[in-house]
Amino acid sequence: MKILVTGGTGYIGSHTVLSLQEAGHDVVVIDNLANSSSESLQRVAGLTGKQAAFHHTDLLDEPAVDAVFGQHDIDAVIHFAGLKAVGESVHEPVKYYYNNLVGTLNLIRAMDRHGVRSIVFSSSATVYGAHNAVPYVEKMEIGATNPYGRTKEQIEDILSDLGAADSRWNIALLRYFNPVGAHPSGRIGEDPQGIPNNLVPFIAQVAVGRREKLMVFGGDYDTPDGTCLRDYIHVVDLAEGHVAALNHIAGKAGVYRWNLGSGTGSSVLEVLRSFEKALGTSIPYEITGRRPGDLPAFWADATSAMADLSWSTTRSLDQMCEDHWRWQKNNPNGYAG
Ligand code: NAD
Ligand code: UFG
Repeated sequence: MKILVTGGTGYIGSHTVLSLQEAGHDVVVIDNLANSSSESLQRVAGLTGKQAAFHHTDLLDEPAVDAVFGQHDIDAVIHFAGLKAVGESVHEPVKYYYNNLVGTLNLIRAMDRHGVRSIVFSSSATVYGAHNAVPYVEKMEIGATNPYGRTKEQIEDILSDLGAADSRWNIALLRYFNPVGAHPSGRIGEDPQGIPNNLVPFIAQVAVGRREKLMVFGGDYDTPDGTCLRDYIHVVDLAEGHVAALNHIAGKAGVYRWNLGSGTGSSVLEVLRSFEKALGTSIPYEITGRRPGDLPAFWADATSAMADLSWSTTRSLDQMCEDHWRWQKNNPNGYAG
């Protein structure tokens, strides 16, 4: 199949382009490079021997999106493109609603005009909000608590309404838990701009000497070691989950929701210890106050994806940290050289 990947130069997108190519698909990428570099696709091509067609295109530019569909005979879309920083979304909500919602509307309108009605969408565990008990199950009532999360929830609503109104659409809503790690080659990985918001990229930058120490946000939670629990998932497992979802929905009308997670929680200190093992030395850290908005603990019920997609995670937390460290060590400044 020929798959259009929006946001395909980004962290999860570039790993998914690689998995798609390894599975024998042709790939076309749209990205506006707002948070990524096209160097990632050159690296992917070096690993797979296949070059994705790249369009430096903004999803907010509807005619340009239309032109991409005119140029390629696309069979299905995996839609990663979006802004994703929770904190920034609180301060600049309109930027997030505009980019994520209008970008998605432009995309699905162009898909419809060109008769492409198969889409896999990057949702997030953040849609479960603060009111659900763990582990999170797909049938729970969702309710995000920040503008970024609400864009995910609203896009889920738009796609669900579309699927209900028009039975020609095949739609997968994938709720990711905490993606970390990198391709084991160390050639592609996460390249955050500025100060990383997320735990593992921050630890990696401390390890490589770009930051002084890790601040652990809260050591007094009601968890085994007092730090928050999250469900970390290796980005290559996540990428493979997309290929499985794409295969599952091909030719199968309807709206499907799957959690993509491991089904277990790890604490901040467990992640730190695992990274230290990969590094072979200790990492300076300090336990500070809680970060506003953090939940004490959440992880996935991952049984639906296993039952429906025959997919589950296979890579351990140690492997996530080893691979993340290899990428960071080989590319201390990310793709910038
Ligand atoms: P990323 O920032 O690396 O990738 C997103 C890509 O989308 C970037 O390359 C960016 O340039 C592009 N983009 C943004 N707006 C665009 C627009 N208007 N037009 C074209 N391209 C645009 O992020 P990622 O971590 O790879 O995340 C991919 C998707 O998964 C996002 O939708 C994100 O919200 C979602 N997600 C990520 C996480 C996570 O922790 N990384 C967790 C849950 C869900
Ligand atoms: N943490 C620290 N220090 C840091 C960064 C994070 O202690 O410098 C802690 C956080 O307090 C939290 C844990 O590490 O307890 C994980 O934090 P992340 O920021 O890495 O991940 P979150 O679970 O907060 O959120 C991430 C994405 C969201 C997404 C969610 C679920 O940022 O967009 O995973 O997929 F919704």
